[in-house]
Amino acid sequence: MANEKAKHIIFYFTGTGNSLKDAKRIGDVLSADGGCGIYSMSGEPPVVTADTETVGFVYPTYFWGIPLRVKKFAETLDLSGCGKTYCYAVTTCGGTAGNALGQLNAALKIHGGKLNYGTKHKMFSNYILMYDLETDIAGITAQTDQTLLPILEDIKNRKQNRVVNHRIVNIFWSSIMRRIPDKDRNFVVSDACTSCGVCAEVCPVKNIRMENGRPDFLHRCERCVACINYCPMRAIDYGNVTQKRNRYQNPDVGVSELGWHEV
Ligand SMILES: Cc1cc2nc3c(=O)[nH]c(=O)nc-3n(C[C@H](O)[C@H](O)[C@H](O)COP(=O)(O)O)c2cc1C
Repeated sequence: MANEKAKHIIFYFTGTGNSLKDAKRIGDVLSADGGCGIYSMSGEPPVVTADTETVGFVYPTYFWGIPLRVKKFAETLDLSGCGKTYCYAVTTCGGTAGNALGQLNAALKIHGGKLNYGTKHKMFSNYILMYDLETDIAGITAQTDQTLLPILEDIKNRKQNRVVNHRIVNIFWSSIMRRIPDKDRNFVVSDACTSCGVCAEVCPVKNIRMENGRPDFLHRCERCVACINYCPMRAIDYGNVTQKRNRYQNPDVGVSELGWHEV
């Protein structure tokens, strides 16, 4: 997916594929105009130069804020020489993005960046730990394919808006997020596990290592819920919360596209 000479760069983070799907669709629109490189937010951020015409960030909303990995990536990305580069963000969410745009903007400002445009995109809501998941995946996907269209137009036309930093919301976000990496101790793996390793493959932060044929969780979890949703045997659950709940995988993103991809 990487294209070093691309005029357009998109960075994405994804658990269950929604954000990668949007990133790819934005990429399709921009690649007609000078090529577009699509990079995961794993690993160290690459150098973005003044020649880069647009830089986009596509990532899920977590607890009205951003995934920890996205925060770390944005805080270290140097955009100081890119005053003319159009920067935009799309946060995919189940409906309420809270401060997921404001937080990213604040993180980018540390090294000279600033969002020119930010929007949420309501997609399939995947947070299986809190509620059961909808079953009409095809219907919701068809709807969200449509609702992305005006966002694609906005980005194509370099629309500008003001991204407000709702700092008060960060209190809720940080009270939850600081405990998340270690809470993977609550994952349980049933005897249905066949040691296939799909859970380790789809994890975007390499939090799962196969140990004697079983997933071992390494306490840098982002709570992206990919392991629960992609296990072909439904062998991974969170305590006794998720056993009876439906699973979700974005139908337009393949397993091999998920997981850790070094920038
Ligand atoms: C840990 C976690 C927290 C979430 N928090 C929110 C939230 O605060 N607001 C919201 O609207 N959706 C929330 N969601 C839903 C996701 O943002 C949404 O389904 C997103 O599109 C998933 O993107 P992905 O498939 O790229 O991982 C949350 C999901 C997870 C896994």
